[in-house]
Amino acid sequence: MRLATLLLSGLVSLLPLSSSTILQNGQLRETHFQETKIASVTSTSTGWRTYEPNAPEISYKGRWDSKHISWWAAPGIKFGFTGQNVALTFGEHTSPLVLVAYRFGGLDWQMTNITANATHQFISPSTRGLNLTLSPQLPQIFELRVTNWGLGVQVRAVHVSSNSTLIKIPNFSKSIEFIGDSLTSGMYATYEAFSGFGYNIGAGFGDVEFSITAYPGICLTDAVCWDNPRGQTYQWFHTQDTSPRAAKIYGTEPEEWDFSAHPSADLVIINLGTNDNNTHNNLTSAQYLTSYLSFVSKVQKVHPNAQIILMSLWKSFSAVGNSYRQTGAFVDEIYQVYQHYKDEGYVHYFNSTGVLQHNDYGPGSHPTDWGHIKVASHMMQYIRLKFGWEFGASGPEIQHETLYWNNEPNY
Ligand SMILES: *[C@@H]1O[C@H](CO)[C@@H](O)[C@H](O)[C@H]1NC(C)=O
Ligand SMILES: *[C@@H]1O[C@H](CO)[C@@H](O)[C@H](O)[C@H]1NC(C)=O
Ligand SMILES: *[C@@H]1O[C@H](CO)[C@@H](O)[C@H](O)[C@H]1NC(C)=O
Ligand SMILES: *[C@@H]1O[C@H](CO)[C@@H](O)[C@H](O)[C@H]1NC(C)=O
Ligand SMILES: *[C@@H]1O[C@H](CO)[C@@H](O)[C@H](O)[C@H]1NC(C)=O
Ligand SMILES: *[C@@H]1O[C@H](CO)[C@@H](O)[C@H](O)[C@H]1NC(C)=O
Ligand SMILES: *[C@@H]1O[C@H](CO)[C@@H](O)[C@H](O)[C@H]1NC(C)=O
Ligand SMILES: *[C@@H]1O[C@H](CO)[C@@H](O)[C@H](O)[C@H]1NC(C)=O
Repeated sequence: MRLATLLLSGLVSLLPLSSSTILQNGQLRETHFQETKIASVTSTSTGWRTYEPNAPEISYKGRWDSKHISWWAAPGIKFGFTGQNVALTFGEHTSPLVLVAYRFGGLDWQMTNITANATHQFISPSTRGLNLTLSPQLPQIFELRVTNWGLGVQVRAVHVSSNSTLIKIPNFSKSIEFIGDSLTSGMYATYEAFSGFGYNIGAGFGDVEFSITAYPGICLTDAVCWDNPRGQTYQWFHTQDTSPRAAKIYGTEPEEWDFSAHPSADLVIINLGTNDNNTHNNLTSAQYLTSYLSFVSKVQKVHPNAQIILMSLWKSFSAVGNSYRQTGAFVDEIYQVYQHYKDEGYVHYFNSTGVLQHNDYGPGSHPTDWGHIKVASHMMQYIRLKFGWEFGASGPEIQHETLYWNNEPNY
């Protein structure tokens, strides 16, 4: 078993990179994914100390179920640790080669593909920043996020060096709950949920917890939409999303999400209706309005202290005459929902018109990375001005691989 430890240190310090197929405008995009898989570590492996997935030191971000399987968009884990080694063993319900982002302290995110039933080492003695005790961040913190919206991981164990310990990192005091569809979940963005405006807003504040309960194609109304068996007025109250992955494990009976076991959200951001508004799904404006009116009060019931922001929908951009125009969807209905609740004081309307232009949309009818960042930036400033939340992320990377630059003068 000592062999395992030797092998893994060797592997990690060489940092071999795996090949990948992330596309950018249909072309292969250069990536730098780390190879993190090592020989299996178990609770009897020499040199390691193993924690069960339900160890109180491990914080789960977003929605995870009783089997420690992650759901919805960009779920994550976070913990502090002593020593110089951190590895995780993933369970059988881990999506094949799912791409995750991970980081040490406030250093840059790194990407790696995860294998089911395998152990991956993320921190080793050669990890940059490990010995910098003057670093602004103590204790040492490890964080991981699934980049996709429908794929996930199952945590089976967390390992540190045999003489090291995990440390519980307290939650930030504020939290945001996102309820959305493919737009909030970052579909077709470079790193999917990890590039979407949900993540960009939540992580962008730097010092808030966030959960992105968003899934592509889903409607607000409880109806079959683009193969999603249920709408958010049903699914949001459940731990699992509407993915085939969830159906395979839980059939048509997902676990109910226990809102009382988690802190109540301070802010709820809803962007739903783009799929209800699609003729493919056969829903009417009246159904949408009725669903939205009842949904808002149900959300308020489980998050009684939350400010609820209704986002207007841009839907798509089309060429009209000799220019372009935002199509919009359920413009009047969303405003009507806002007006219905306005006097109660906790419902707000975010007018997204003019934030995006037609070139912020990719051919797959979703925002580009730029588009997501624009939506996030405007929403963050809106929240700052309206609710006085300050921006806490004044250094560490939020958007990964968005460093486009030009050092050539004089075109
Ligand atoms: C890693 O994940 C990315 C994104 O899902 C995928 O394109 C790539 O093929 C994977 N790489 C390997 C080596 O499996
Ligand atoms: C993971 O292990 C389980 C249980 O031993 C097994 O059924 C499954 O096929 C394994 N999955 C992979 C991808 O190896
Ligand atoms: C950190 O210090 C340990 C010895 O305490 C050493 O083995 C390791 O290489 C150092 N790591 C880095 C990244 O400097
Ligand atoms: C833990 O063990 C390693 C390897 O034996 C050693 O280098 C290190 O100093 C120990 N750390 C502590 C805190 O005892
Ligand atoms: C910490 O926040 C996460 C969501 O980010 C939540 O699921 C968890 O219940 C919170 N833990 C505590 C102890 O409040
Ligand atoms: C919508 O209605 C059409 C025509 O009645 C039908 O073919 C189609 O299956 C319906 N779609 C859904 C999602 O119910
Ligand atoms: C979508 O919303 C627009 C703007 O409110 C409305 O004119 C249109 O009838 C809606 N379409 C569907 C299919 O719901
Ligand atoms: C939303 O913003 C657009 C552009 O400024 C404006 O034309 C429209 O009236 C606004 N809608 C509402 C409901 O305020």
